[in-house]
Amino acid sequence: MTNTTDNPILELDAIDTFYGPVQAHFGLSLHVGKGEIVSLLGGNASGKSTTMKIILGLVKPAAGDVRVDGVSTLKLKTPEIVRLGVGTVPEARRLFGAMSVRENLLMGAFIRNDKDGIAADLERVLTLFPRVGQRLNQQAGTLSGGEQQMVAMARALMGRPRVVIMDEPTMGLSPLWVERVLELIRDINGQGVAIFMVEQNASLALQIAHRGYVLQTGRIVLEGKAADLLVDTRIRDAYLGGAEAA
Ligand SMILES: Nc1ncnc2c1ncn2[C@@H]1O[C@H](COP(=O)(O)OP(=O)(O)O)[C@@H](O)[C@H]1O
Ligand SMILES: [Mg+2]
Repeated sequence: MTNTTDNPILELDAIDTFYGPVQAHFGLSLHVGKGEIVSLLGGNASGKSTTMKIILGLVKPAAGDVRVDGVSTLKLKTPEIVRLGVGTVPEARRLFGAMSVRENLLMGAFIRNDKDGIAADLERVLTLFPRVGQRLNQQAGTLSGGEQQMVAMARALMGRPRVVIMDEPTMGLSPLWVERVLELIRDINGQGVAIFMVEQNASLALQIAHRGYVLQTGRIVLEGKAADLLVDTRIRDAYLGGAEAA
């Protein structure tokens, strides 16, 4: 498949990132093709969340470029980057706990002002998340972790994104909810939305991803098709519990 690299929806090009004296990225380059599911794997403190912050413009790189559908976002603020078609499911869901589920979903459409379109999108998004639809008036903070994750994903879709970035969407969920969330990520992707997901759990992520990158202390050390990475002994040893499981 060469077409995914021709005109990617998301591109990071030779990114260096610093937090004061601490360097978090060393020439980080990766891309997400239109309609692709790409997973960013890596252990603790490897720079995964920082990659998400760079994409959203919450942290600005010292060097390199970030492009959304070919447009450089380095000089853009977060809402402008969202407007280019980047949806986000942040780490630990980050719902507005005191607000209702409905209000949380509408926050996902904050960049828009077409009332009719927003109402239609709420309908559309809820067909994908019927469980969320049953709880529109519930206070978001009272939902279970899995339910909150569904609301966070539904909220991201309310901005009509072309790529959704997700930071550890399965973290802290029970196995049943992990399965559900992965299925929903597939469903979202089935509607033509590209997915860039960060995961510590490589085997889970690679089950649904088309491609993956492995980040180690701010550097990509391995990349390839998900199917190839799944059987790569370097990944097995480092991230699939190869040593302990054997
Ligand atoms: N706000 C911050 N200030 C200083 N250092 C940070 C900050 N956020 C992250 N870091 C450092 O950057 C590195 C990468 O962190 P992070 O991107 O959160 O990793 P991951 O998500 O892979 O666990 C770590 O060494 C971390 O301590
Ligand atoms: Mg993180």
